[in-house]
Amino acid sequence: MNQDSVVYLNGAFQPLSEAKISVLDRGFIFGDGVYEFVPVYHRRPFRLAQHLKRLGNSLAAVGMVNPMSNAEWEKLFQEMIQRTPYEQQAIYLQVTRGVAPRDHPFPQGATPTVFMMANPLKLPTPEQVERGVACVSAEDFRWHRCDIKGISLMGNGLWRQVAVETGATETVLFRNDFLTEASSSNVFAVKNGTLLAPLRDNLILPGITYDAVLEFAPKIGMPVETRPVSRAEVFAADELWLTSSGKEVLAVTTLDNKSIGNGKPGPAFKKMWAHFQTQTAI
Ligand SMILES: Cc1ncc(COP(=O)(O)O)c(C=O)c1O
Repeated sequence: MNQDSVVYLNGAFQPLSEAKISVLDRGFIFGDGVYEFVPVYHRRPFRLAQHLKRLGNSLAAVGMVNPMSNAEWEKLFQEMIQRTPYEQQAIYLQVTRGVAPRDHPFPQGATPTVFMMANPLKLPTPEQVERGVACVSAEDFRWHRCDIKGISLMGNGLWRQVAVETGATETVLFRNDFLTEASSSNVFAVKNGTLLAPLRDNLILPGITYDAVLEFAPKIGMPVETRPVSRAEVFAADELWLTSSGKEVLAVTTLDNKSIGNGKPGPAFKKMWAHFQTQTAI
């Protein structure tokens, strides 16, 4: 993305260099906003209806009115995609509570700030898919509304940095010895051919890819158990997967330098990955 890249801000497409907001925007002052990250394959947004539903849920959860109807969002996505020169895109959108004098309570009558940008979609490299990735683990100390896709990502940023500094791809999180998710991914374990999914509750983001994987599992003949998954089960798993809009499905082969299964992407991963590719092909 360069300074001439076209972004959308509050009703207008404009070059990135010209897109400006007030320093009093509550997104800047309080991290008071929500976002979505939508992958686009062959110029078609993947599971846009589900992303828009989650956006609506996030907005409702923080007491904000959705600034657009689904039809308007869809039109905006189409326009953004058309104006962007990549076949595969990552569309980021953010809605904040808008500009108001700094004070904690919600301002009356503030207009939400709506921002959207498109970048090239950076999927895992073929080597990462082939060999799997290393992860580290940490204690999940976030608040109890991780189901809201909020822009206040301090914890997530801290953990992602821990991963980067140790040469790992992600930081897998445990809360009281139970798996929640990772800093910017959902996490699944596989044991004896069964997919173990942490509960889709307030302690994790309801990932669009998480839902897709649960939907695809029966199609590739995998039984699913959606239930609390303990730390011990994670380390004893045959396979461990990360899922997200930017990673699709990715095998974790070491966690805290310990091998998961035989330390290679497993057969269930390979099946799921292959099925995933059929869903995003032309
Ligand atoms: C904390 C967290 N969990 C899970 C996910 C995966 O969600 P999705 O599959 O919708 O990209 C993300 C994505 O950014 C995330 O930030």
